[in-house]
Amino acid sequence: MRFGDRRGGSFRGGGSGRGGGGRGGRAGGASSGGFSRGGGGSFRGGRSGFSGGLNRSGTRELMAGANLQKPIWEQIALETFQKNFYIESPEVSSRPEAEVQEFMAARGITVQGQALPRPLFTFSDCPFPDPIRAVLAQQGWLQPTPIQSMGFPLALSGRNMVGIAQTGSGKTAAFLLPALVHIAAQPPLRLQDGPICLVLVPTRELAQQVQEVANTFGLAVGVRNVCVYGGASKANQIRDLDHRPAIVIATPGRLLDLLEMGRTNLRRCTYLVLDEADRMLDMGFEPQIRRIVDQVRPDRQTLMWSATWPREVQSLARDYLGEFVKVTIGSQDLTANPNITQHVQVCQEWEKEHLLYRLLPQLSYTGAKILIFAETKRRVDEVDRQLRSQGYASLAIHGDKQQSERERVLAQFKAGYAQLLVATDVASRGLDIDDIAAVVNVDFPAQIEDYIHRIGRTARSHKTGTSYSFITAKHAKLARELIDLMTATGQEVNPRLYDLCGASRDYARSRANAPRQHRGGQMHQPPLPPPPQPQHPAAASNGFGFGPQPLMGQQQQQRQLGRKTQSGYPQQQAPIASLNNPIGGPPASKRAKYGGPPPPPHMQLSAGAAGGAWGGGPQQQPNIGVWNTGQR
Ligand SMILES: Nc1ncnc2c1ncn2[C@@H]1O[C@H](COP(=O)(O)OP(=O)(O)OP(=O)(O)O)[C@@H](O)[C@H]1O
Ligand SMILES: [Mg+2]
Repeated sequence: MRFGDRRGGSFRGGGSGRGGGGRGGRAGGASSGGFSRGGGGSFRGGRSGFSGGLNRSGTRELMAGANLQKPIWEQIALETFQKNFYIESPEVSSRPEAEVQEFMAARGITVQGQALPRPLFTFSDCPFPDPIRAVLAQQGWLQPTPIQSMGFPLALSGRNMVGIAQTGSGKTAAFLLPALVHIAAQPPLRLQDGPICLVLVPTRELAQQVQEVANTFGLAVGVRNVCVYGGASKANQIRDLDHRPAIVIATPGRLLDLLEMGRTNLRRCTYLVLDEADRMLDMGFEPQIRRIVDQVRPDRQTLMWSATWPREVQSLARDYLGEFVKVTIGSQDLTANPNITQHVQVCQEWEKEHLLYRLLPQLSYTGAKILIFAETKRRVDEVDRQLRSQGYASLAIHGDKQQSERERVLAQFKAGYAQLLVATDVASRGLDIDDIAAVVNVDFPAQIEDYIHRIGRTARSHKTGTSYSFITAKHAKLARELIDLMTATGQEVNPRLYDLCGASRDYARSRANAPRQHRGGQMHQPPLPPPPQPQHPAAASNGFGFGPQPLMGQQQQQRQLGRKTQSGYPQQQAPIASLNNPIGGPPASKRAKYGGPPPPPHMQLSAGAAGGAWGGGPQQQPNIGVWNTGQR
């Protein structure tokens, strides 16, 4: 099939050749976590730690919008509207088919659907107005990313679509720039009109971030936006809505509240975006999403975006999209950003703290930002408190914090006032902080998709980054998927992960028999075989050690920091952490708390290493050999 023929079908522009779209079922029912359950018939429940929209007022938020009446669309005379603005440029039309195929294959672009447009190679192929082109140039963006290459023509053609592309690959602009074209072609908003474009997102932080991009491009073409999310002043949001913004970026609960209050409406909404769609459908927002979507005319254009697309939400998507085109960049299977070097350490719960304090000095001495994920809000606070007591410049963010504090913390982290941010999954999706050099998963996430999104907070755009994850027997059931994911992105796999796979059945059995209060305590850990000895320290990248490229190169990092400074960010702080961090083993009190035995003698650091303070004491690398070799 010639790509561009209006004949439809499915087209694979290269990629790994692994078809199948999707993977096996997700890891069973999500844990009960911090959300209340309830809501509509197909409510899926939530997961611990992630509380972007559902926090203390979770139940109230779940009920938000319950009084909204679904319009009977068949009985309403809807004004016609235009949603197809795409005219293929002569350059695009005249490109030889072989060139198009080659372009798509090289970028791993796969498209499934009917009557497909051709991808756009350059920004001059894109029919954007001059002011938008000017902003693109200002941003220094040289060409569309692969998801933009295909997303732009599809979105501009008025097509319903699902866009799946790696973290940090420019999905936000892929839906916002066509939105601006869509808005410009609609009749002006009247006094009682709601927005033309609605962007739904799972978290407040993501809403604000999407707003930044909407500001950057929207202001150039005179398109106003408003961001509405819980935890912030409703009065201010209502006042902003009164100014008739063409774009509303919202978390579902607050939007439903405002819809119920009659402070806005979706009668004019014709361009509907669900960013991080799988997360919203999966985390318990489904009844709310349904209530919102019910308020939007059925002939709207709907676009869903994410880096992951688990099978469970695929069928739900059909309800919202009807006929749609699916664009996938890279593998059809779960995939992580290949610019991230992933390290995984299999350990026991009680070892984590000790291992973290051995890892951090390695990561922090350059001053680059590090994002640390933990499972629960309590745990985040605990890790943060400990890091600060150890002298690290650390901040914490999770759903129980006041909105003003969440905003302050994020702003401070972005600006470089603190080097470490400890977070629940509230920070796992969509956040674009371009100089996070490393992500550390102190607690492994509950699902492999969350792992992909968490580590995706580093290596944004064209940058590289590193992730470090602790995994215990508790998450043995994810080991197989993790191995597949790492293999698919060319990562070296820690051999202990294979043992963990084998252990997952034993673990499930032991959990079934274990008394309830055993949860969170020391886990059954399979006996670990002697690990293979690496040929050379540099070859050992399967632990947390300084392998070949533990972080982005120091020079590269300095270049980045330099650029940031030039562009108005405050100078990075000196690596406080490294100056006064005693790299010691877990204190006795902690060992008691985690229920573990004292660290074995070979895990004790040598005096030189323990006292080694980067920039302070002797410039000596801490002894991290035990990580590289896997010795315990
Ligand atoms: N065409 C482009 N060229 C260069 N940089 C780009 C381009 N498009 C977007 N970017 C930059 O890439 C970064 C990541 O973009 P964005 O946040 O939209 O990624 P994403 O795909 O939504 O990631 P996630 O899955 O984590 O949400 C942003 O800093 C953005 O400015
Ligand atoms: Mg995004």
